[in-house]
Amino acid sequence: MFITFEGTDGSGKTTQIERLKHTLEETGCLVVQTREPGGTKVAEKIRDILLFEMEETIHPETEALLYASARAQHVRELIRPALTSGKVVLCDRFVDSSLVYQGMARGLSLETVLSINEVAIAGLWPDLTFVLDLPVDESLNRMQKMDRALDRLEQEKREFRELTRQGYLQLKELYPERIVLLDATAKPEELQEVIWKATREAMKQ
Ligand code: TYD
Repeated sequence: MFITFEGTDGSGKTTQIERLKHTLEETGCLVVQTREPGGTKVAEKIRDILLFEMEETIHPETEALLYASARAQHVRELIRPALTSGKVVLCDRFVDSSLVYQGMARGLSLETVLSINEVAIAGLWPDLTFVLDLPVDESLNRMQKMDRALDRLEQEKREFRELTRQGYLQLKELYPERIVLLDATAKPEELQEVIWKATREAMKQ
């Protein structure tokens, strides 16, 4: 079973992934926790370019292709083998991030980003995707409280953040069966409960 978590910065994905991992392991599942961009050595190197290259402008097309190449490696080296051996894979961001950030927010179009990613994912869509939805003001508030420097994408303007939020809401319309939209302002315990319930349901099918 392949489960992905999506959402804007500061939406609390990491906390929820860790809690779901813990609960799944208590029920005897073998779980692999991973993230994008990254998850393998090569993909982590691509991540460094994507998140920390501050001096040169990365063109939207280059950006989309770099995310997709990191993903191609991640799918083949880690995700698919783990799924084949019966493990549950929990991934912090996946192809939906590209559809939203590069396709919708950067304006490359959904079709272009989908076609770039066809080769990368080779048909491997998540079974279940949790989108943690957070109003932009709240997202900015939470980021300001974090005591660390912001990466290249976190420095993007408010308008870009609004586009990513709207992008996720649109994605829910496109993939209603796979995507569970959650209000990230809810208490972590409540979110955890809803996420676990949806995961159990999906595992029964
Ligand atoms: P990360 O530090 O992992 O952020 P977060 O905690 O918000 O997940 O940085 C990942 C950044 O990369 C994030 O701003 C979203 C962006 N991104 C894309 O633009 N496209 C993609 O395909 C992926 C996977 C991430």
